[in-house]
Amino acid sequence: MTNTEVPRADQNSAENTADKTAVARDSQVGAHGQKPIAGGWSRAARGAMLLGDDGQLHPTIFAEMSALAASTGAINLGQGFPDQDGPIEVLEAARRAISDGINQYPPGPGMPVLRHAIATHQQRFYSLEFDPDTEMLVTAGATEALTATILALTEEGDEVVTFEPFYDSYAAAIGLARAVHRTIPLRLPSFQPDPDDIRAAITNRTRIILINNPHNPTGTVLHHATLTLIVALAHQHDALIVSDEVYEHLIFDHPHTPIASLPGARERTITISSGGKTFSTTGWKIGWAIGPSKIIAAILAVKQFLTYVNGAPFQPAIAVGLGLPDSFFRNLASDLRVKRDVLSAGLVSAGFTITQPAGAYFVVADAAPLGHLDAAELCRALPGLAGVVAVPLTAFVSREHRRDYRSLVRFAFCKREEVLRQASAQLGQLSN
Ligand SMILES: Cc1ncc(COP(=O)(O)O)c(C=O)c1O
Repeated sequence: MTNTEVPRADQNSAENTADKTAVARDSQVGAHGQKPIAGGWSRAARGAMLLGDDGQLHPTIFAEMSALAASTGAINLGQGFPDQDGPIEVLEAARRAISDGINQYPPGPGMPVLRHAIATHQQRFYSLEFDPDTEMLVTAGATEALTATILALTEEGDEVVTFEPFYDSYAAAIGLARAVHRTIPLRLPSFQPDPDDIRAAITNRTRIILINNPHNPTGTVLHHATLTLIVALAHQHDALIVSDEVYEHLIFDHPHTPIASLPGARERTITISSGGKTFSTTGWKIGWAIGPSKIIAAILAVKQFLTYVNGAPFQPAIAVGLGLPDSFFRNLASDLRVKRDVLSAGLVSAGFTITQPAGAYFVVADAAPLGHLDAAELCRALPGLAGVVAVPLTAFVSREHRRDYRSLVRFAFCKREEVLRQASAQLGQLSN
């Protein structure tokens, strides 16, 4: 990296890169007293809480923890990607597509086979009807869909409301868009939002209510009453709803309810999801946005100048995945539930208190009962203490609210059962 290059904030996203060692190295270039280059990158970095008081881009805790896992050989429960391949039918379909020559630019909105498969999926699981030609858009993962949506639909100063803790790419995109980030706290013990906090955050200044259901990092699945309240407030304040549902099939106790399925929601909701989590193909980056045609056209106007298109051979493969039988989707959730229970039991017997997640890949554990009040400090020591890597919840929280989450640690359970059992046994050493 030269003196004038911008440190690469894009590589720092929480779950999107498997090897973040290079990021840690690159961003230290900026930390050695060089004047940072001017530009919009700093708004993204500030939004994602990566800009230090010295104006330099700092590596994320994810970069630091992954480097620690690599250098110590500790079990990495820090990052949210599975350590097993997804369904063979999906993998074979991608291989076949490459052999069949599906290797050039697909159409801008996505390949028809995938858009039809998404439409059929929404109808099959949620009884939602969408036109595959005008009401959906294939994107480079949910990340691109989120960023293009925020850039397309906000003006400078518009407010975007999210829950807090929040996925870091939301804050980066809000910063890039020069929008204002407002948050609704998710607090212990349940991490369910308080209706009064929701009412206080959503006002006439709100342009987008960006929800994440099931939620990363807390595993919260929103109650029906919460979804209803959000729709009512969106109407009252003429706001749009953006719903990040990447964990829609990773939900343990009951079927997922997309907010778009509530009365009055469809015409103002953009639903975002991706194939990464459902089919254990996080590296393929095939995502989508679904919503009313006018809004989708606006998002496409931005998206086409971000990536234009991506992942031609992976698009028909994800279409195959979306058409897999119900048993695949049932087993996916029930297998993950077993993993959740294995790690949760391990954490409890190690002395943590946990909040049982209802969905997604993560369990939040409180280290305070073990005498560790600073989770960031604990996470730095954890490879040495127990041979395990995890991330502090403060990585998902703005500086002014970190105190409320200080002793909380996020552990990923989307790993093989034997890995989780080994990690649990090692974590048991903490209370010795
Ligand atoms: C809540 C949330 N949204 C979006 C994403 C990104 O999804 P994709 O990999 O499809 O871009 C992630 C990945 O971890 C996530 O946790």
